[in-house]
Amino acid sequence: MAAILELKGIRKEYPGVVALDDFSISFEEGEIHSIMGENGAGKSTMIKIITGAIPADCGKVIINGRAFEKLNPAISKENGIGAIYQEFNMIPSLSVAENIFLGDKTGNAIMPDFKFMHRRAGEIMNELGVNIDSRRMVGELTTAQQQLVEIAKAIGKKCRVLIMDEPSASIAMAEVENMFRIVRQLKASGVTVIYISHRIDEVFQISDRVSVMRDGRYIATKPIRDVTKKELIAMMVGRELTESFPGRSAPAGEPVLEVENLSGNGDFHISLELRKGEILGLGGLVGAGRTELAKMLAGDIRPSSGEIRVNGRSVRFRDSSQAIEAGIGLVPEDRKLEGVFLNYTIEWNIPVMSLKSISKFGVIDFAKAKALAEEYSKRLMIKTPSLRQLVRNLSGGNQQKVAVAKVLAAKTNIIIFDEPTRGIDVGAKQEIYRLMNELAEQGMSIMMISSEMEELLGMSDRIVVLHEGRVSGELKKEEFSQERVLELSSGI
Ligand SMILES: Nc1ncnc2c1ncn2[C@@H]1O[C@H](COP(=O)(O)OP(=O)(O)OP(=O)(O)O)[C@@H](O)[C@H]1O
Ligand SMILES: [Mg+2]
Repeated sequence: MAAILELKGIRKEYPGVVALDDFSISFEEGEIHSIMGENGAGKSTMIKIITGAIPADCGKVIINGRAFEKLNPAISKENGIGAIYQEFNMIPSLSVAENIFLGDKTGNAIMPDFKFMHRRAGEIMNELGVNIDSRRMVGELTTAQQQLVEIAKAIGKKCRVLIMDEPSASIAMAEVENMFRIVRQLKASGVTVIYISHRIDEVFQISDRVSVMRDGRYIATKPIRDVTKKELIAMMVGRELTESFPGRSAPAGEPVLEVENLSGNGDFHISLELRKGEILGLGGLVGAGRTELAKMLAGDIRPSSGEIRVNGRSVRFRDSSQAIEAGIGLVPEDRKLEGVFLNYTIEWNIPVMSLKSISKFGVIDFAKAKALAEEYSKRLMIKTPSLRQLVRNLSGGNQQKVAVAKVLAAKTNIIIFDEPTRGIDVGAKQEIYRLMNELAEQGMSIMMISSEMEELLGMSDRIVVLHEGRVSGELKKEEFSQERVLELSSGI
């Protein structure tokens, strides 16, 4: 088969980091080619070079036999490259159709041809088997729907190569299936799909071939049927790693957090409890109310009625700092928006929730702040040339690690994790699991919202499943099974 896209000898250096080092790779026409590598390995950097978003220091990109030393977004697009980034590139206040044709010429200089746009957008959606009204505003859509619009956008531009940077990181299981259906359909029509993901099972499910990169270097490409999970992980991390969940035997103690008849906006009505030293898993579909519950417990949104008790005492939070004072910390789901301060350094971000405990008479002890930052960036293996690096400049997964570190450093007695390992690579994932276990053993209590079945079953001591704003069931460890969680998730 012919190579449709090749990279040859690409180098990209940032201050203190070689993001890509003499990097070469080749993609064939009509294949689904996955890229795996640890957080900070250089995956997103590679994509940005292919799409012309950033220039390479040296090396060339060859598209369909034509070599380019200087690419820019326009040339890349003209040559059939389309990409869906880790962060979507859409304007929430515009309609689906307007977003699909953003930057294209339709109609004349003054008036875009809306009629054409909606008709064509409708056609593309139809081809994809997607049912979204092209007149709706993108800001009103769910993340999964927005992603489908991103795919439609790339297809509207007639791309020959579609790059997807962690497309499943922010959508639910059922939605991943739908996305895979579309990816396979694209492949059938001859499009090459470059698929970046940290979820090994998905990579095995969807790929024809898989390439591994490590520390900015190309390691290998294999047909997916010639490689095992274990080998793939070893190639990624450069050592063997058992992908099992560490066991823990400490029994759970008395309830530390009780939620009684908590109500919020819409149909939401929840009662549950969290015990000392316990890891409670919260299962359910996206939209079941798990994130809403987490935000109420962490003081980010106010319940309309019901009661929250911490250690038997009724509490009401006006904001998250009051929740932290009462001993509840939250690692939020949308870490880019809520979890970190992108324009500040790692050193500044990690201790930011712990300021009370490291201050004396209102004065921050900077040595202690720095020590905290050092300790937790080391424990979570945050990849950076310096703690003075702005969080903005870290890779996606490393930004998430900062968000997790920040909450862990605050050492609240109760920690709520909303999708703790989303976008985080295998090695660091295990480290986070280890840390969770350690915290539970020390008597802290953890509530973990997770859409990853293995994680939910592997880490929890007990699972409570939500369905449409209500508790649809509770499973003790001996009752755990994928089927039960799925059944309860859909309200059976
Ligand atoms: N603008 C920037 N300034 C400085 N360093 C950067 C910048 N962008 C990326 N880097 C560094 O380049 C390296 C590669 O980052 P990249 O985003 O390509 O990783 P990745 O493989 O996509 O990781 P992840 O799985 O976490 O998304 C990282 O060490 C990152 O910190
Ligand atoms: Mg990335």
